[in-house]
Amino acid sequence: MVKKIKTPYYLIDEKKILKNLKKIEYIRNFSGAKSVLALKCFSTWSVFDLMSKYMDGTTSSSLYEAKLGYERFGKETHAFSVAYSAEDIQILKKISDKIIFNSVLQLKTFYREVKHIGVGLRINPGVSYSHFDLADPARKYSRLGVASIKDVMSVLDKLNGVMFHYNCENDDFEAFSVMLEKIVSKYEKILRKINWVSLGGGVRFTEDGYPLDKFCKKLKSFSDQYDVQVYLEPGEAVITKSCELFTTVLDIVKNVKDIAIVDSSIEAHMLDLLIYRVYAKINLDMNIGGGYKYIIAGRSCLAGDVFGEYRFKNRLKVGSTICFTDAAGYTMVKKNWFNGIKMPSIVVKRLNGKLEIVKQFLYDDFVCGLS
Ligand SMILES: Cc1ncc(COP(=O)(O)O)c(C=O)c1O
Repeated sequence: MVKKIKTPYYLIDEKKILKNLKKIEYIRNFSGAKSVLALKCFSTWSVFDLMSKYMDGTTSSSLYEAKLGYERFGKETHAFSVAYSAEDIQILKKISDKIIFNSVLQLKTFYREVKHIGVGLRINPGVSYSHFDLADPARKYSRLGVASIKDVMSVLDKLNGVMFHYNCENDDFEAFSVMLEKIVSKYEKILRKINWVSLGGGVRFTEDGYPLDKFCKKLKSFSDQYDVQVYLEPGEAVITKSCELFTTVLDIVKNVKDIAIVDSSIEAHMLDLLIYRVYAKINLDMNIGGGYKYIIAGRSCLAGDVFGEYRFKNRLKVGSTICFTDAAGYTMVKKNWFNGIKMPSIVVKRLNGKLEIVKQFLYDDFVCGLS
């Protein structure tokens, strides 16, 4: 059935998303924490109807993301931007339920315009969990959030809430918990004065084996102690393991090693992996784990356009399907027209098992992206 669809394409499986959404619902029921989808990670709105049944709204990194959340997801629209323009604020003040500023200067500049909605400030707590310096929100000289408590205190009377985003791909509950304790002791005075706290994203609480009950207990005791509504801003945790990128081998070349070139590109279609220099994960059901070793490479001109090196049970040939897993987060939102390579279509496998091609990209889309 899937074979009839022309590669390359992303296949999003709603049943797999549902598994993650059920955990989000569980967290809400047992801790009171609300979850808003981080659109920066995943903005493919064809599955928002399903997501919005289990989540409380969206959070954003720009005006356009906020608009998308407001128009296509509904429920609560949280706005955040590293720096708003005056024009952004004119629209955001009409569509946002909460607007979170990244600096005291921006908050003071726009406060009068937005004080009728929930005003928040991002705080840089100085602690973080990240495997990558590039993604570490508390890295040296980080511009993400207000680092000085004195500065936060100077606008405390204007704040309804605060946001701490201090995790990236954190699957270690103890580390999450210890850092939350540190935040609590550092910002106790502030926490007593506000109504809501967003703990950001970056926690892998939908992974199998994550101690969900401990997580809920921690969130609930934090929320009870300070009488605050807790928000989580999951991106990756919502869609993890729910999508695959299907490609076809176009050519096989040899330079010491065998190299299979597919009709896709890591640079154009899974850019995040290239930025962080990690290999794509490959579908384990498909011919994997034998004695034939291939580098799987993209068809762009970039020398390092390499998805990874893998072992296969059978020889690959022109026409073989290569399927990369975990292809939802930070992929479709970052795809680009580098080299004019055809963008993967987006296909959704609905809960009832039906396949729907929700987006196909044409030459005209490439042309219209520039002028
Ligand atoms: C402020 C904020 N919230 C939420 C997220 C989502 O993180 P993740 O997709 O790792 O859950 C990010 C990611 O960078 C972020 O910067």
